[in-house]
Amino acid sequence: MKISKKIKSQIESGSWIRKMFEEGTALKKKYGEENVYDLSLGNPVMEPPKKFFEELQRLANNPKPGLHRYMPNAGYINTRSNIANQLKKEIGLNFSSDDIVMTCGAGGALNIILKTLLDPNDEVIIFSPFFAEYIFYIENHNGKHIIVPPDNNFHPDLNIFEKSITKKTKAILINSPNNPSGIVYPAKLIEKIANIINKKQAEFQTDIFVISDEPYKKITFDNIKSPEIFHYFNNGIIATSYSKDLALPGERIGYVAIHPEYKYKEEFIDGITFCNRTLGFVNAPAIMQNIIANLQNITVDIESYKLKRDFMYDNLTDMGYTINKPQGAFYMFPKSPIENELKFIEELKNENVLVVPGRGFGLEGYFRISYCLENKTLEGSLKGFKSAINKLNI
Ligand SMILES: Cc1ncc(COP(=O)(O)O)c(C=O)c1O
Repeated sequence: MKISKKIKSQIESGSWIRKMFEEGTALKKKYGEENVYDLSLGNPVMEPPKKFFEELQRLANNPKPGLHRYMPNAGYINTRSNIANQLKKEIGLNFSSDDIVMTCGAGGALNIILKTLLDPNDEVIIFSPFFAEYIFYIENHNGKHIIVPPDNNFHPDLNIFEKSITKKTKAILINSPNNPSGIVYPAKLIEKIANIINKKQAEFQTDIFVISDEPYKKITFDNIKSPEIFHYFNNGIIATSYSKDLALPGERIGYVAIHPEYKYKEEFIDGITFCNRTLGFVNAPAIMQNIIANLQNITVDIESYKLKRDFMYDNLTDMGYTINKPQGAFYMFPKSPIENELKFIEELKNENVLVVPGRGFGLEGYFRISYCLENKTLEGSLKGFKSAINKLNI
C-alpha cells in the first residue's frame, strides 16, 4: 500500500517504540506476564478518585437532555468557567471562560495550538529530554523542531538556547514536571528563559510564544511546586489534561488556557477553536466535560507516587545507578552505566526488565523508567536491575 512518504518515515523514526512493544509481548508469552517487568509504559495503574465514579453515576442516573449532542467547539461554558475559577485561585490572574478551550487531552491541546500558530517552516524549540511525540506534533503542522540539549540537571543549556533562537522561532515548548526525567524547572530557570526570550524578541522584532505542556503539574513531591508560567510570559499558553492527575488517559479530556491579559487572545482563541473543529476533534468528550467540571482541585493520591519514586530511587542508587532525583511526574531517567544505552537495555531485557532508551526522548546514554505501576512489578524488577549492573563489573 502506498501511504505518504512523510508518515512512512515518521513511523520508521519511531520504530523502537513498536519494536519494544513487540519484544515485550514476546517475552510475556515466553515467560508469563507475571515474570516480565514492563517499566516502559506511562500508563498509570492507579484508578481515578472515588469522586470521579460518583459524578459518573450521578450523570448516568440523571442524564441531562441533550447531553450527547454537539456543542460549541470550545466546550461547555459551565466547565470552562469552573476551570477559570480554579486557575484564578491557583495563579492569581483574572481568568474567565473565554480564556479556556476544552480539548481531547494534552495531545489534542498541543496539536490545535501548533496548528494555529505555525506557518510552514516556523521553528519550535524543544528541550531534550522531551516527550517523543513533540517532533511529530510539530511536523503535523509543517513546523521545524530545534532541539536544545540539557545540562547535568536536565535543565536546558541556556547558552545554546539563546543561540538557537532565530527570526523563524515561533514558539518554545516546555514540559515541567518533565517526561521522561521527572525534573521540575525552578522559578529561577524560568526567569532566565524569559529574559532570553525578551531579549531575542526585541532583537528580531518577533513574537515568541511559550507553550507549557503541563499534564503532570499537580504531581510533584517534597513540597516542590512547578512555577506558574503566566507569571513570566504574557503570551504564555498552557496545554494540559486530566490524563495523569485524575488517571483518565483513555477519556481524552484536557484544555488550553491563554494568559488572560494576552493582547491578541481573542484571535488566538478563535484560532484554536477553529482548529479543534477542523482537525476533526470537533469538541472534547461531553460526558467528561460534565464530570471534570466538578472535579477541580481533586487528584489521585500523589503520596503513593512519591512512595514509588522513593522505593525505586533508593534501591537503584544503592545498586550504583546514577539518577537525578525526580521531583514530579512518574518517571525517572537514570544514566546508562555504559555509554550505549541500547546495549544496556538489552542486558535489562535479558533479565526480563523493559525500559525505554533515552534516544527516544532525544538524549542518548540514559533510559526511562515509568514507576506508575503496581508495587509488585517495581519490586520484581529490582533483581534484574541488580544483575544487569553487576554483570558490568564497573
Ligand atoms: C509530556 C506529555 N505531554 C503530553 C502528553 C499527552 O497527554 P494526554 O493523554 O493528555 O494527551 C503526555 C502523555 O504521556 C506527556 O507525557
